Amino acid sequence: MNFYDLPAFYEILDSKYNVTNNELDSATYTNVDCNFVFSAKYARHRWFNYKEGFSPILVEKTFDEYGLDKNSVVCDPFCGAGTTLAVAKVKGMKSIGFEVNPFAAFITKVKTEDYTQKDIASFKKLLSELEQIVLRNDLPLPENEYLKRIFESEMLTIQLNIRDFIRNAPESKAKSLLFFAWICTLEECSLYRKAGNGLKIKRKPPEYPQGSAFQFAYDRIFSKAQSMIEDYSEEDNGPVPKLFVESVTNLEANVEQESIDLILFSPPYANCFDYTKIYYLELWFGEFVNSTGDQKKIRMNSLRSHCHATWPDRYTNFNLPELNDQILPLLREQKLWTNRIPDMLNGYFADMEEALRQMYKTLKIGGHCSIVVSNSAYAGIIIPTDVFLAMIAEKIGFKVNEIAVERLIITSSQQYKKTEHIRKYLRESIVKLEK
Ligand SMILES: C[S@@+](CC[C@H](N)C(=O)[O-])C[C@H]1O[C@@H](n2cnc3c(N)ncnc32)[C@H](O)[C@@H]1O
Repeated sequence: MNFYDLPAFYEILDSKYNVTNNELDSATYTNVDCNFVFSAKYARHRWFNYKEGFSPILVEKTFDEYGLDKNSVVCDPFCGAGTTLAVAKVKGMKSIGFEVNPFAAFITKVKTEDYTQKDIASFKKLLSELEQIVLRNDLPLPENEYLKRIFESEMLTIQLNIRDFIRNAPESKAKSLLFFAWICTLEECSLYRKAGNGLKIKRKPPEYPQGSAFQFAYDRIFSKAQSMIEDYSEEDNGPVPKLFVESVTNLEANVEQESIDLILFSPPYANCFDYTKIYYLELWFGEFVNSTGDQKKIRMNSLRSHCHATWPDRYTNFNLPELNDQILPLLREQKLWTNRIPDMLNGYFADMEEALRQMYKTLKIGGHCSIVVSNSAYAGIIIPTDVFLAMIAEKIGFKVNEIAVERLIITSSQQYKKTEHIRKYLRESIVKLEK
C-alpha cells in the first residue's frame, strides 16, 4: 500500500456498506445534530458546555427512529455529560450510563437527578450563605504547582474559600447543586482556557478591580445557579439513570444480558485528545483527583484514544487486516509528532472491539446500537474509523444498517492540504447497527 492507493482503498471500504449523504463537499461545525452547541437551548443540557458531547436533538431523533417509548431501556456506555441519559429521563425511559471521568460522571449525575421544591429552596439558601462568607487567608495552597498558577493570587484565595465553604456544607442535593454551579465557573475565573488538547493561557485574563475577586466569582456562580433554577421543573422528574463511574469494559459485569433496547454513544475519537488534560482544572480543583496516581488511573481505564500512557497487554489478539496490514505499515513510514500513534490506533480499535463485544451481549435481539464518531488523519492518511468500527461490529455479529455521514470535519491546515483529494472521508458519521 502507498499514498496513491489510498483513494481506491477508501472507496472499496465504503462500497461494502450503505454509506449515505456522502457527497458533502464543505466542512462545517454547525447545522448538525452531533454538535453540542445546540444544547445551549435546552434546559439542563445547557448547564455545562461539554464540547465533546452531542446534542439532545440527535438523541430524540434516534429514539424516534427506533420507536422507543416509556418501556424502553437505553444505555450510553461513554455517557460524558449525560446527553443521552438526560433525554431518556424526560421521556420516562430507564437508562444506564458508564463514564470513566469522575468529573463528567458528576455532570451527568447532577443533570439527571430528581429535585424537589425543598431541594431548590435549600440550594437558594446555601447560595445566599455563600454570599456572606467571612474570607480566610490561612487556607493551605494546593500542593500542585500548576494549580497555584491557574488563578491570579487574590482569585486563588477566593476560590479556596468558596471550595472550603461548599466542602463543609452538610451532604445534600443542594450541596451538589452549589458545587456544580461553582465548578462550572472555574475556567471563567482562571487565567487559562480550554484549547485543543488541554489548557492554554488566556490572552485576555478576567478583569476585576483589586479586592473584588470574590464579587467577580460570586456573580458568576449566582448567574449559573439562576439558570439552573430557571430550568427546574418538577415535571422533569423521571427515572434516575443508573450511572457507573467505570469503564465500558465493565458493562457485562453490571448489566443483564439482552436487556437493552438501544445503545447510543459517541466514544472519544482517535485524535490523541486526553480528557484528563482538557478537564484538568475541574478534576484537580474539584478534588475528583488528588494525586498524579489518581489521574493516571483514569487515563489507564480510558479508551486508548491518546498517547499519554502505555498499556502493554490489553486485548493483544486484536487484528483487523485493513488496519494492521494496510494503514498502520504506511503510517509507520511517516514522520509523526510521536511514534506512539500507530500503537495508539491499534489499541483504540482493540478497546472498541472489546466494548462492542460486551454491548452486543447486553442488547436485546432486534435492538439497535448507534455510534457517533469522527474519522481522523495523521500525515495525510485518513483513519476511516466509521468503516473500521462497522467491520469490527460485523465480526461480532451485528448487522450494519447504515453509515450516515453527518458532516465533513475541519482539520489542521497542514492535514487539510495533505488530505484535500480524499477529504470526503474526513467526516463525522453515525454507524447504525442492529442485533
Ligand atoms: C465523546 S465523549 C461522550 C459525550 C457524550 N455523548 C455527551 O453528550 O456528553 C466520550 C466520553 O467517553 C469517556 N470515556 C473514555 N474512555 C472510556 C471508557 N473506557 N469507558 C467509559 N467511558 C469512557 C470520556 O471520558 C468521555 O467523557
